[in-house]
Amino acid sequence: MSYEVKCWECGRSVEDPFLNTCPVCGGVLDVRMDMEPLKELEPADLRKRPIGVWRYREFLPVSGSVVTLKEGGTPLYPCNILSDKFGVRSMHVKFEGANPTGSFKDRGMTMGVTKAVEIGAKAVGCASTGNTSASLSAYAAKSGLPCVILLPDGYVAAGKLAQAIFYGARIFQVDGNFDDALRIVRELSEEGYLYLLNSINPFRPEGQKTLAFEILDQLDYKVPDRVILPVGNAANIWSAYKGFREMMELGWIDRIPMMTGIQAEGSAPIVHAFDRGDRDFVPVEDPETVATAIRIGNPVSGKKALHAIYESGGTAITLTDDEILEAQRLLGRTEGVGVEPASAASVGGLRKLIDMGNADRDEMVVRVCTGHVLKDPDIIIQSCDAPVKCPADTEAVKRFLV
Ligand code: F0G
Repeated sequence: MSYEVKCWECGRSVEDPFLNTCPVCGGVLDVRMDMEPLKELEPADLRKRPIGVWRYREFLPVSGSVVTLKEGGTPLYPCNILSDKFGVRSMHVKFEGANPTGSFKDRGMTMGVTKAVEIGAKAVGCASTGNTSASLSAYAAKSGLPCVILLPDGYVAAGKLAQAIFYGARIFQVDGNFDDALRIVRELSEEGYLYLLNSINPFRPEGQKTLAFEILDQLDYKVPDRVILPVGNAANIWSAYKGFREMMELGWIDRIPMMTGIQAEGSAPIVHAFDRGDRDFVPVEDPETVATAIRIGNPVSGKKALHAIYESGGTAITLTDDEILEAQRLLGRTEGVGVEPASAASVGGLRKLIDMGNADRDEMVVRVCTGHVLKDPDIIIQSCDAPVKCPADTEAVKRFLV
């Protein structure tokens, strides 16, 4: 395994593993694996190991021992009832809620915290809309590193906040939004207080690209036509694209799925840029959505996400909060898959694309559902029918049943 960290904007090599941006042009960084040694591998070699992030360890920039909670290996559910309902040929859900802390973030954190230990970081930290902090605090606990977390006060779902508190992180609830929290934690990292593990860290997307590897593995290397993901800070759609690209470079697949990003209407800088045909975006000042996980106005990987969408022939659309919540219930009540609101964006997104005539009914689609329904119990209580209160009496219950 050999690799280089390069500026994604100007192409310069960056040696210092503590940096998150190019010291010359300020661009975001990217890990480039040396693909030559990987050409000796076959999918069958990898399948001798259990499915999960570390099945693909030759594709990951790490050589020593790893900090792992056995992440990845999440189910790819065929959704026959929903595909009939939507009138599409084939539709799967990749259920990332089945990761150890209940979201896809664990793929990036096993990689990122492994790197933190390898380079001798003294503490780790992140800003978060909730899931990143839940994940980092668990992996930090496992590694023994202290962990500092900054959250937008009042906008983190209860399950996620509870996780971060539970795993023992030092938590600061900032009087501002996610973008403010990220600005502060980036400054703390520049001043050496912590090793930053937001997705601007170039190693985190490396772990997250295994999402694409697993989708292909689980479909026996049959390439889906479209992969749909919710977009917030915009690293996951880039990471998945990167995973598909690497498989194409090895010749294991011959095309890349149309990478399709869904944002909430009140928080949609990437969709606005895509609608204008731009490769860069204008930040949204006061992002708002019920899907708090993706309530982000200034996504750090926004340019990479736009690149992934354009280069794969994909698209990007918005959903209203009502459409998101309706999709969340629909997935739960037809397929039995419970996801948090942001994740449901990928489900509602497909329906809207079909209605708009932007997706073919003949497509084979994979929707990535990024987080578990239990992350945000309050939204369920608010948006679904309340249970019936009744006396402790069988006859009374029977009366309600008829
Ligand atoms: N879905 C969920 C459940 C998320 O938690 C996030 C991001 C996304 C989608 C969007 O992914 O940022 O890579 O585009 N959550 C981050 C956090 C920002 O702090 O937990 P992205």
